Amino acid sequence: MTRDFKLFRGLFLLKIVKSNCIVVLLFFAIYESSRSADIKCQFGDTGGFAVVGMAYLCTFYNANISSEESAKINNVTGRHENLKTHDDVLGFYSTGNQVINYFPQGLDKFFINIKTIALYSSNLKEIHQADLKPFPKLIYLNLYANDLEILEEGLLDFNPDLKVVGFQQNKLFHIDSNVFDGLKKLSYLWLVHVPCISKNAMTSIEVQASIATIKDKCTSSEFTSLNLKITNLENKSKTLSPDLLRV
Ligand SMILES: *[C@@H]1O[C@H](CO)[C@@H](O)[C@H](O)[C@H]1NC(C)=O
Ligand SMILES: *[C@@H]1O[C@H](CO)[C@@H](O)[C@H](O)[C@H]1NC(C)=O
Ligand SMILES: *[C@@H]1O[C@H](CO)[C@@H](O)[C@H](O)[C@H]1NC(C)=O
Repeated sequence: MTRDFKLFRGLFLLKIVKSNCIVVLLFFAIYESSRSADIKCQFGDTGGFAVVGMAYLCTFYNANISSEESAKINNVTGRHENLKTHDDVLGFYSTGNQVINYFPQGLDKFFINIKTIALYSSNLKEIHQADLKPFPKLIYLNLYANDLEILEEGLLDFNPDLKVVGFQQNKLFHIDSNVFDGLKKLSYLWLVHVPCISKNAMTSIEVQASIATIKDKCTSSEFTSLNLKITNLENKSKTLSPDLLRV
């Protein structure tokens, strides 16, 4: 074997090893960025939740749920006070400075007694019936200052005990007309800085008035016209594509 050939073979092997390494690294990079996550809790008594009063809560910290994949929660970490356990946890709380674009999934497997959900300024983009269905004992739901746009039909159908609901300061443009109808115990409905209503109802009577306003002003023909716009856009892109191909 000539020295040149050995060198060539050496380089060739090096290249294979290197490209395998890159494949492996790439694989781990993709795996890391898409896999589900742990939620970190700071456990403790926290107050200020209207009718709920003081409650033992998990306050999320350093959450980064920026994809639906990362919303699947593997495990919950954090130290309990005294002899408390997950069963003593009555709610989750986020005070902002973190990214919770999608509602965390699977927390009901760890916490079976959730009555309070308060996620403030946490960049939440969507909320669905399926997110809340696992929490039938919910009394207090407040998603203040997030990026919600739509409250879907039947959103709260599995949370009949709700007494307090807040969606203040969200970008809501469509609230389904029946979202609040099944909530017989609802006595606070906070919707200030929601464009179509902007009112905090503080009694059952005010809640009824707000629900009437919502049916009138928030269940929007805009939503229907938005759907129409999307359909139009789809049709347009279909008709546009041959032109684009020609160019
Ligand atoms: C959150 O996670 C995404 C994707 O994994 C990443 O791009 C982003 O930098 C993270 N943000 C923070 C604040 O850690
Ligand atoms: C979940 O976290 C706890 C600590 O809070 C730990 O003891 C346990 O081993 C973790 N379970 C898994 C499956 O990672
Ligand atoms: C878009 O196209 C579908 C069929 O492809 C049609 O049913 C629909 O009416 C069209 N929408 C508009 C707004 O033209």
